[in-house]
Amino acid sequence: MATTAQQANPKAGLALAFSAMPMLYSVMLIGVYITSSHQGLSCPDWPLCPNGFDLPSEKYFFEHTHRLMVVITAGLIYATAAYSAARMKQARKTAIIAAIAVSVQIVLGMLVVTTRLEPLLVAAHLSTGILLFAMTLMTFLKAYRIAFGKQ
Ligand code: HEM
Repeated sequence: MATTAQQANPKAGLALAFSAMPMLYSVMLIGVYITSSHQGLSCPDWPLCPNGFDLPSEKYFFEHTHRLMVVITAGLIYATAAYSAARMKQARKTAIIAAIAVSVQIVLGMLVVTTRLEPLLVAAHLSTGILLFAMTLMTFLKAYRIAFGKQ
């Protein structure tokens, strides 16, 4: 009975788990581009860039986009965790770890900026990003199994 209720709409869970992945991948891609093109301090303020809520200026386009995309990505990861906790028991653990990892990652992102690219923090930001992607991928694979009954 509980199992039926928990898996009431497995495709919705799968869609949520899937949608976080391309967003996260893009955030990481842009992040690595920022690092390798030495634009990490192009937007020195926190939480907003100097242009506030205006369209990103050319000067901090990638930094601004990195931050904006994080807002959507984190929302999707939190929604997946909430949905998994309520309805996809098998995916709950990895989804909750992903939600914690994205919170830690946001704090690390802030510290990377406020410490002006402290190397240890940049390294932690990269490795937490990898852990976060792994957890998001595992959540998706579990949601896939739930949706298509290969448990
Ligand atoms: C889902 C959340 C986030 C993910 C997955 C993520 C991922 C990444 C990755 C993979 C890099 C490249 C690191 C490297 O090549 O060493 C990066 C760079 C960077 N991220 Fe994030 N990031 C996130 C959130 C944030 C936030 C909220 C900020 C806040 C401003 C931020 C600021 C930066 C900065 C400034 C860099 C460039 C560091 C440098 O130049 O060395 N990130 N990010």
